[in-house]
Amino acid sequence: MRIVLGVSAGIAAYKAVHLLRLMREAGHQVDVIPTPASEKFVGRATWEAISGRPVTTSVFSGVDEVRHVRLGQEADLIVVAPATADLLARARAGMADDLLTTTLLATEAPVLLVPAMHTEMWNSAATAENVEVLRGRGTEVMEPATGRLTGKDTGPGRLPEPEQIFERVSELLAEIQGPTYAYAPRAGTFYAPDPQAQPALLGRSVVVTAGGTREPLDPVRYLGNRSSGKQGIALAESAAAAGAQVHLIAGIMDVEAPENVANITVERIETAEQLQAAVGRRAPEADLLIMAAAVADFRPTSYAAQKIKKTEDGENPVITLERNPDILAETVQHRRTEGTGPGVVVGFAAETGSAEADPLQLAQAKLLRKGCDLLVLNQVGETLVFGQDETEIHILTSPTLAESSAPVTTLRGTKHQAAEAIISAAAAYLV
Ligand code: CTP
Repeated sequence: MRIVLGVSAGIAAYKAVHLLRLMREAGHQVDVIPTPASEKFVGRATWEAISGRPVTTSVFSGVDEVRHVRLGQEADLIVVAPATADLLARARAGMADDLLTTTLLATEAPVLLVPAMHTEMWNSAATAENVEVLRGRGTEVMEPATGRLTGKDTGPGRLPEPEQIFERVSELLAEIQGPTYAYAPRAGTFYAPDPQAQPALLGRSVVVTAGGTREPLDPVRYLGNRSSGKQGIALAESAAAAGAQVHLIAGIMDVEAPENVANITVERIETAEQLQAAVGRRAPEADLLIMAAAVADFRPTSYAAQKIKKTEDGENPVITLERNPDILAETVQHRRTEGTGPGVVVGFAAETGSAEADPLQLAQAKLLRKGCDLLVLNQVGETLVFGQDETEIHILTSPTLAESSAPVTTLRGTKHQAAEAIISAAAAYLV
């Protein structure tokens, strides 16, 4: 989610560096707005390096994009840590004399102020009144911690530890977002993930295949499919956000691949055979393989080097097809025989149902046939799933992993929510 981290001029600004790191590790986008005076404690370069975002303190930079309004409008949450006595006073008065106070005034997002100052300043009538007024307006002002202050003195006024602030930040974000769904494989139900948990895929290597393959008939024609690539991209992004190093093998897609995104490398392929080679190179080293690509099951038996032309005699060309390799089944088979290969393999099934069986029954059969650990079922039809942002998925777990036989969990939501659920389901089986 998007957080604005305001930093005002207190010695505790150095602790906000760790707070920023915690926010980033949890996958949040953070824009840091230091007050000009706070740069005496921690410089702009530190904020830029850790947030990976440009940092300004003045209302007069980025005027063209109306930065002071935009940051506040786009934020899900604004946190100011440390919030000095001066910052509290300016916020209470509604002053707008730097980028941080202007942003506070221009935002409708929830605001969490985390005070840090000397005990005398915290206990002063002025500060007490400012805090009361701010709280009365709905701004959350955390209680400062009690302990050793800058000098030899002790008392209330210390900045709470970054972990403690982050805990409150996570609670607030969870309230704002509502439950995001993760997958509890044993229970077969969705639950809101523990915001304190370690990123699920920290240090793991993940290979995601995405998009459709294209099987050439002649130099200008091909057999293709309607895969948009959106689900695969959402999976690559969710895995990277969960701390993994991701290799995205991208087929033909309607949307841009996440090139130049931290922790994601992109490799382009077109045909099923190229995909097979790429997976063969990458999968043995991966902790997790997610086969979200829509692979053409058949390819033309022969490729015409010249464009196929209409003939005078009115004969229609006959295209004969042959089977493409089943990359998913082959990878699982290889893991079984060689003992190498991805720790967890996730397959996908796009099913319309048939006269004999509903989509779920077909998916259950496919899970067993392919031998993968998890299978994600998308029901498809003319208007369902392909290219849509909303999706309904069923996650099926292999009976060899689950305690009960092939439990199924259903989720309806955005492709990103589906991706998060799939990633946490898969992560639960990594050893
Ligand atoms: N898959 C694969 N290689 C293929 C075909 C599919 O690796 N040649 C993978 C897909 O990436 C997906 C899963 O297998 O993860 C299921 O794909 P799907 O096309 O639904 O299954 P099929 O094997 O084609 O089964 P069916 O013919 O019954 O639809």
